[in-house]
Amino acid sequence: MQMQELGVILLAAGQGTRMRSDWPKVIHPLGGKALFLHALNRAQQLGPKRIAVIVGHGADAVRQAYPGSDVTWVVQEQQLGTGHAVLCAKEAFKDFSGDLLILSGDVPLIRERTLLAMIERHRSARAAVTLLTAVLENSQGYGRILRAGDGTLTGIVEEKDANDAERQIREVNAGVYVVSARFLFAALSGVKNNNRQGEYYLPDIVAISLAQNNVVETLQVADRREMMGVNTREELAFMEKSLRETINRKWMLAGVTLKDPDTTYIDESVTIGKDTVIGPNTQVRGKTVIGERCQIDGSAFLTDMEIGDEVQLKFSVVLTGSRIDDGAIVGPFAQLRPGTHLGRNVHIGNFVEAKAAQIGEGTKANHLTYLGDVTIGRDTNIGAGTITCNYDGFQKYKSKIGDRVQVGSDTTLIAPITVGDDVYVATASTVRHDVPAGALVFNPREEKVRDGWTAQKRQQMKGKKN
Ligand code: UD1
Ligand code: CA
Repeated sequence: MQMQELGVILLAAGQGTRMRSDWPKVIHPLGGKALFLHALNRAQQLGPKRIAVIVGHGADAVRQAYPGSDVTWVVQEQQLGTGHAVLCAKEAFKDFSGDLLILSGDVPLIRERTLLAMIERHRSARAAVTLLTAVLENSQGYGRILRAGDGTLTGIVEEKDANDAERQIREVNAGVYVVSARFLFAALSGVKNNNRQGEYYLPDIVAISLAQNNVVETLQVADRREMMGVNTREELAFMEKSLRETINRKWMLAGVTLKDPDTTYIDESVTIGKDTVIGPNTQVRGKTVIGERCQIDGSAFLTDMEIGDEVQLKFSVVLTGSRIDDGAIVGPFAQLRPGTHLGRNVHIGNFVEAKAAQIGEGTKANHLTYLGDVTIGRDTNIGAGTITCNYDGFQKYKSKIGDRVQVGSDTTLIAPITVGDDVYVATASTVRHDVPAGALVFNPREEKVRDGWTAQKRQQMKGKKN
């Protein structure tokens, strides 16, 4: 392959009318990220010199969906057609004489190896234009590839401009092109909009190239899913499913058990270690990393989690932005909110919520507890119904609980507070002040017993029950 420079133009200015949405089509999420980021990320893998993204409809929203600074945003004020859109990038590539790869923001499943094959063919044939085509059973909606009797390419006709015979053609334009930059911008200034849609068509550069006796190459895509565009919400759902199947298959081949792949949703950005078992109805989102030999029972919703090895997530947990070290057990019915860190072998049981909680190795909080803005040492036991009162309606305060502490059930710890190592907090305590290491803390309350009280009460209330 010749060492030509590569640039990328990504088309993302259209509204996507058929989505019937207030948002631009290309920011609708697919597999956990904005639709156009799929093609953008694929382009980035090729290490191009420059990527220009053409935005127009909802330009600000599209820009906001990509926080990186390695793309040049080009605004196409009016959407006058794909040819016009590409022409808008002329300025961005004025010092560039290599090859330009043109991708559509609404075609997400295109593969790197297909793009590499196109670039390779383009360069070895010294072509002016190389385009990706596909043979479809139903070619409706696409531009059709026109060929002479001997198979040589003669042009592309858009469906709306095609005659009946042309509409029968099943080979279509996939909308992915490699074009020599110099040729591209010169050719585009010659493209007219005298067609049924009154648009400047990018595919018209093919006819222009042929008229100039330049080489035009085509590459047929093997898997037609690669070139499928998203135009409706139904297609978006189909694509979601297709992408999900690909991701799930990848993890199963990598040694992860998915008990019910049909109800397992794993974002592309997730990593999972081998011999981890994932039960039904599980969503693994964002930048989540899961270690090896973990057990996830099911109905888990994990976002941006960092999970070590041999962690057990029992049925039904919602875990966000937190870290769980090796061997910890969480759930059933538990929630970890951002900034939480569970040390090794920590147990977090049912109806426990932790927020920004640093919990030391071997510590347990097994039932009905709220741990917010708290640091807890190791081998401490938090009894059922313990609440860290971290909020007074104005500000949040922090609590600190030491190592080997026994917190009795039904305890409220009023922050800011420090409970030293080896403290024993008696059941039903309200702890307002710091407790020194090794102490017992309790709220003295006299216990009273009235013999025979229940029978008397029942007698008194007789007949008054409604
Ligand atoms: C286009 C091709 C068609 C091909 C099909 C493959 C043209 C004229 N037709 O049709 O041959 O079979 O893709 O999917 O190119 N866009 C802009 N600015 C515009 C117009 C469009 O940025 O002024 C963007 C859209 O946001 C979209 C992409 O270009 O990402 C393609 O435009 P779209 O209108 O979807 O073209 P198709 O009708 O699908
Ligand atoms: Ca389209």
